[in-house]
Amino acid sequence: MLTFRRAFVAAVFVLTIFYLTNTRSSPPIADTPPPATFPQAQPQPPSALDASRQASTTAIPSDQKGSLDRSSSQDQKTMQQDMSRMSLYDKLAYQFPYDVESKFPAYIWQTWKYTPAQGEFAFREQEATWTEQHPGFIHEVITDQVAVNLLRLLYASVPEVLEAYEALPLPVLKADFFRYLILLARGGIYSDIDTYAIRSALEWIPESVPRTAVGLVIGIEADPDRPDWKDWYSRRIQFCQWTIQSKPGHPVLREVVARITDQTLRRKRAGSLRDVVDKNVIEFTGPALWTDIVFEYFNDDRYFDMTHSTGPIDYKNFTGMDIAKRVGDVIVLPITSFSPGVQQMGAKDYDDPMAFVKHDFEGTWKPESERHIGS
Ligand SMILES: *[C@@H]1O[C@H](CO)[C@@H](O)[C@H](O)[C@H]1NC(C)=O
Repeated sequence: MLTFRRAFVAAVFVLTIFYLTNTRSSPPIADTPPPATFPQAQPQPPSALDASRQASTTAIPSDQKGSLDRSSSQDQKTMQQDMSRMSLYDKLAYQFPYDVESKFPAYIWQTWKYTPAQGEFAFREQEATWTEQHPGFIHEVITDQVAVNLLRLLYASVPEVLEAYEALPLPVLKADFFRYLILLARGGIYSDIDTYAIRSALEWIPESVPRTAVGLVIGIEADPDRPDWKDWYSRRIQFCQWTIQSKPGHPVLREVVARITDQTLRRKRAGSLRDVVDKNVIEFTGPALWTDIVFEYFNDDRYFDMTHSTGPIDYKNFTGMDIAKRVGDVIVLPITSFSPGVQQMGAKDYDDPMAFVKHDFEGTWKPESERHIGS
């Protein structure tokens, strides 16, 4: 039962978060300044950088698109456009503009049933590694009640998103949705509560890549190079969503949020939301949806100049890789980075220099088995 005291504590906590996320005039910065010792990282206009990376990545962000984004959002701000006529995707773009040249915000977001202040909290050891590895970051473990209130503040102007969040019938769906929502609105790092930080996020992006050219860092969950992979996994390459780093407003997150919202409200209206059971989660909000939208983004000519492309980007571009790969403004880390020690699919051990987080799969909302079809 919700006692007055609990409600009061929750309200104070929400207000604290609201204060932390809204009134900081200069948010803490996760980026290291461009190191003078790296000749590759000389400041250049983005177009020059992109052109110089053409050799290593086929798809490059088109800078026309970048400038288009910026100017259109400015126009909208001065006109105070009537948002009700905009598509959900455009509303989200207006509300949470993306600027690849901004800094990675120094936030760590986690969710759990309890906060670290409560006796029932069982992930003290894991949680502490994030704080230890990231001095100066704001680190929040958000409970369900706080999540609802935080989202009401962040998404007040996009009520269909709130309606969808509240309509989702399973905690696992809400937990999935929350990570995309918080990163779209605020950016930073989301990581499941049962992960250990092995290395600071300041080391996740290769030193040769300028931080101003990257807006999303993702890892590989599964790379099953075997003929019967379909019996075990939903995708030939599956990107994980237990740990994600992003700048606010990233278009992949915008698309994921728009897609989940539309799907949820359509099902709600059709009365079929209750049919979403555990085994559908992977497609509905989980890594299958996440993986599909990342690949769609890589092949989207709104964001990538395809004129020099030699073909679509698919799983083949990421299978078996053991160093990070940059595609446009996305860094894809090898399987070792977010899934070390799984002793399959080429993942190396926890002491490998590319091992960044350790995921236990213990206290997740969904055990690993539910993430894989047929197992
Ligand atoms: C992806 O792989 C294809 C061949 O499968 C190749 O032609 C293309 O250049 C690769 N793209 C990137 C960005 O690595």
